[in-house]
Amino acid sequence: MTDAAPLATPSAYADAVATAVQAAAAYYADGSTPLGDDEYDALVRGIEAYEAAHPDEVLPDSPTGKVAGGAATGDVPHSVPMLSLDNVFSADELAAWAAGLERRLGRPVDGWCVEPKLDGLAVAARYRAGSLVQVLTRGDGLAGEDITHSADAVLGLPARLTEPLDLELRGEVLLTQDQFDHANEVRTAHGATPFAHPRSGAAGTLRAKDRPYRVELTFFAYGAIGLDDLGHTALLGRLAELGANTAATTEAHPQRCATVEEVQQRVEEVAALRSALPFGIDGVVIKADTATDQQQAGSGSRAPRWAVARKLAAEHKVTRLLGVEWNVGRTGIIAPRAVLEPVVIDGVTITYATLHNPADITRRGLLLGDQVFVYRAGDVIPRVEAPLVDQRTGAEQPIAFPEACPRCGDPIDTSEQRWRCSRGRGCQAVASIRYAVGRDQLDIEGLGGTRAVQLVDAGLVEDVADLFALTRDQLLALERMGDTSTDNLLAAIETARNAPLNRVFCALGVRGTGRTMSRRIAAHFGSMAAIRAADAEALAEVDGIGVEKAKVIVAELADLAPVLDKLIAQNVGTAVTEPTAPSNAGPQEDGPQGPLTGQSVVVTGSMAGSPLDGLSRNEVNELIERAGGKASSSVSKKTTLLVAGEKAGSKRTKAEELGIRIVSPAEFAATVADHLA
Ligand code: IVH
Repeated sequence: MTDAAPLATPSAYADAVATAVQAAAAYYADGSTPLGDDEYDALVRGIEAYEAAHPDEVLPDSPTGKVAGGAATGDVPHSVPMLSLDNVFSADELAAWAAGLERRLGRPVDGWCVEPKLDGLAVAARYRAGSLVQVLTRGDGLAGEDITHSADAVLGLPARLTEPLDLELRGEVLLTQDQFDHANEVRTAHGATPFAHPRSGAAGTLRAKDRPYRVELTFFAYGAIGLDDLGHTALLGRLAELGANTAATTEAHPQRCATVEEVQQRVEEVAALRSALPFGIDGVVIKADTATDQQQAGSGSRAPRWAVARKLAAEHKVTRLLGVEWNVGRTGIIAPRAVLEPVVIDGVTITYATLHNPADITRRGLLLGDQVFVYRAGDVIPRVEAPLVDQRTGAEQPIAFPEACPRCGDPIDTSEQRWRCSRGRGCQAVASIRYAVGRDQLDIEGLGGTRAVQLVDAGLVEDVADLFALTRDQLLALERMGDTSTDNLLAAIETARNAPLNRVFCALGVRGTGRTMSRRIAAHFGSMAAIRAADAEALAEVDGIGVEKAKVIVAELADLAPVLDKLIAQNVGTAVTEPTAPSNAGPQEDGPQGPLTGQSVVVTGSMAGSPLDGLSRNEVNELIERAGGKASSSVSKKTTLLVAGEKAGSKRTKAEELGIRIVSPAEFAATVADHLA
């Protein structure tokens, strides 16, 4: 969360009010805003603090205490006011809020319900005799806008309930990530500007009339007028029975909690699930669950006293696009990367974000100097979503696309969405060769530095297979190559020719295959020729390769076919695959025996303070395999053990959910002590 800047003077306060009013107006009009959610919240907190200290100076248009910051209006009166929620920003604030509610009731709250705070727009949907007759936005909470014309496009909002009831459903309409991506594809195909953000997309879509294309939205019900005797959990069950979609259909499903401790834990769980959810959430809502508690707590003019939103740090932020860099990857793909004015998202400073490919830049209509929405969640690479078109000053400039490969100057193959140097992997020959000769691959000393550049520049080597065809004369002809260094290098290359298949395969740098996976592939197929002939189905039989990964590997192998053929022709990689432990000479599939035999182990968080401190993740994974276990990077039902250091995060939560055994790095180190190198 962004800290609230203290407002020192009446004019600073007046400025803050004006900025907040303007931002709230834009937000409720079409979801666009020059401020990120965190900045808006911080601004309002500053205003609140100033007003608390100077109650006589409160300006009439101040957003505090008003639904939608006083910005939204409409002309259809609500049957019962549509309230907002008070916010808390930390576990302590949440605990204080819960304690306050219990003080007010004079007794403990009889159970809570914890559910996601869906990042969309609140709507009221009126049913008569079970048929949907009218849909309204929240507006100012007292009256909303009629958006019935959009109802057809809203999945989860049934045209007919399963029973002929008079009822008003309340809930949130949003664009899921898939719906958002699809909406932007359709919009750009129609020459319209893409939506900057799923919420602005939902707002724009609900209000739009007569669009030549259709954009689907999704409804989640979380309340109703007319079923007032039901507690919240029971109400959600009833709404689902009547045919409405609820968050019960999602991983972040509402959960009843008996104590505030349980509430806090569930809040953490939902927060950890956030980045994997197919729709945006901007917090977690905590509600007193029973109708009795809700009625006794009552509501203020803006928000109920029996519910609160624990806000999560925004995943979207607005910042400026300063430039675009074009980087050539190992396979020759030329990828654009946005250079941004640094912006902090969820505690991490973001300076670069992916722009996918040139077509995507065009589709999003980005210009240099644009204010853009940047998205970052969990461990994903931050991405630029869209420009804020109405914030343009006229000084923005088009983004220049490269006309030749920025690395080698050769022509670019633009036939696919992802542009590629026409030399493909050859463009990165030096980097590929340096990787191939590294210690964990072919281990050829003397080729890591400038020698690789020399060989490529002299036209002797284009890929790793060419190393095995080098002659003594060719090497001697190179600058600074004497007899001794030539003989040493040739000897090292001969040793590498007999390297185990897994190392030769690893040296190819196929995407998605590090050392462990290369060993599994080598053990499974047994020869380079068999690997070359493998299709996706065959690859997916290898432990740890899913259908998607298999497709990527097949595409990479097709690309590498000439290199594979040269390696096969030169008898490189015919030695048996290395065992997973140096002591084991038996069949690889069985792997070594040890304290972790039969265990599927995931390691997460920091290893600091344990004997594992200082080991790379790769080295820890090797240790696991030496001790007989299988190392994996993600927690699944197959996982049997999680080694969780500090800041373990979502993997720990998931392991707890699945009831997987969790040990500290120190405990784990003790278990595998005999196998620590
Ligand atoms: S309850 C009287 N539950 O958040 C109860 N609201 O910031 C009021 N929202 O206006 C709402 N998810 O638009 C509730 N699970 C949820 C919600 C939720 C999203 C929205 C809703 C509300 C706003 C307040």
